[in-house]
Amino acid sequence: MSALFSPMKIGKVELSNRFINSATYEAMANKTGEVSDALIKRYERLAKGGVGLCISGMMYVHASGRGYKNQIGIHGDRMIPGLRKLVASVHQAGGKIAFQIAHCGRQTTKRMIGQTPLAPSSRGRDPINFVKPKEMTENEIMEIIKAFGAGARRAVEAGADGIQLHAAHGYLINEFLSPYFNIRTDSWGGSDENRFRFLKEIFQEIKKIVPDGYPVLVKLSTNDYTPKEGVTPTLAARYARWLAEVGIDAVEVSCGGTNYSYMNMCRGDVPTAEMVKGLSWWEKPIGRLMFGKLEGKYDLEEGYNLAAARMIKPVLGGTPLILVGGMRTVKHMEDVLENRQADFISMSRPFIREPFLVNKIKEGKMDRVSCVSCNRCLAAVPNGLPVYCYNKGFPA
Ligand SMILES: Cc1cc2nc3c(=O)[nH]c(=O)nc-3n(C[C@H](O)[C@H](O)[C@H](O)COP(=O)(O)O)c2cc1C
Ligand code: SF4
Repeated sequence: MSALFSPMKIGKVELSNRFINSATYEAMANKTGEVSDALIKRYERLAKGGVGLCISGMMYVHASGRGYKNQIGIHGDRMIPGLRKLVASVHQAGGKIAFQIAHCGRQTTKRMIGQTPLAPSSRGRDPINFVKPKEMTENEIMEIIKAFGAGARRAVEAGADGIQLHAAHGYLINEFLSPYFNIRTDSWGGSDENRFRFLKEIFQEIKKIVPDGYPVLVKLSTNDYTPKEGVTPTLAARYARWLAEVGIDAVEVSCGGTNYSYMNMCRGDVPTAEMVKGLSWWEKPIGRLMFGKLEGKYDLEEGYNLAAARMIKPVLGGTPLILVGGMRTVKHMEDVLENRQADFISMSRPFIREPFLVNKIKEGKMDRVSCVSCNRCLAAVPNGLPVYCYNKGFPA
């Protein structure tokens, strides 16, 4: 039998195969962050399609950490009933679901959260939102650590099978880890150990709350691609070793940042026309120029985070490594597992297009996914469109 279909545990939870639906912001929650019927349908389909573990799109743990209008919230107890319904429907369909919990840090706007966005340091203006964030005080840092703990408690109460800390793509935890975004000189910055402290304390806070063996995963950026050096594969390997030492249950290896290096995170085509669609008339020419310059520079190479995974795998010991980013052919996925370069194969865009692809692979009906990495789904969500495959273009 293919290695892709041998069961494996993350924490105390056994997954029936090695496929993971990587966290994907759905743009489907209600305006106040509650779970909608569309969200339930999305995850039900993935569960029925045979995915070993679905990871939800990032959920904000605190009102100041909201990044998007139709994002799921896990910031208050009133969210629990909807989240419980979501989990129950996945379980009923025979699947498992972990919640990705996040704080958007500087990658949001005052309009979205009603205050100046928070960050480890007030360094520079964001290239997309033009925001200059506020440097967090010690009290604010402690409040957000507690908010992650409370988010984890709500995930447990909702029945989720695990949680994933979003420490990638330029959001708050990634910002603390990055020497580019974090230029603090107190005990939260100034050295790798201090920059790691925010993630470590969040993890420790969560461990105090969740049951023994409850899976706590991390999605880690292995390269920020910021204008000056941020997290690099070497630094990420150091952080990954420390994560394994503190007892993390799995590390998912990703790269790039939503506002500084969008196209590294999701390599493939740059759909300029769709990317600028939601911009105002005066922003459109700047957008066209910006995205136009990127066209043709991010062609998808299969398994584009594999080189970083190779550096990280040895430092993890027995802790599972999850590989995301451009996994497209079954042969490549099997090779990665058989060569012990990763323990799980994670995908986002292929599951948007084909939620049933795992069952098809199992039945021997598919040797490559049909997603062509045109990135129109990626352009859709900031335009307020729910996450579906828009390969043929946006609805008129
Ligand atoms: C529409 C869209 C939304 C995404 N939202 C998230 C998210 O909420 N959290 C996250 O960690 N990554 C997010 N990602 C990144 C994916 O999880 C994944 O890392 C990336 O798309 C590369 O994998 P792929 O080649 O299989 O698509 C998103 C990607 C897309 C296309
Ligand atoms: S729009 Fe469809 S084909 Fe294009 S990247 Fe998204 S899922 Fe793949």
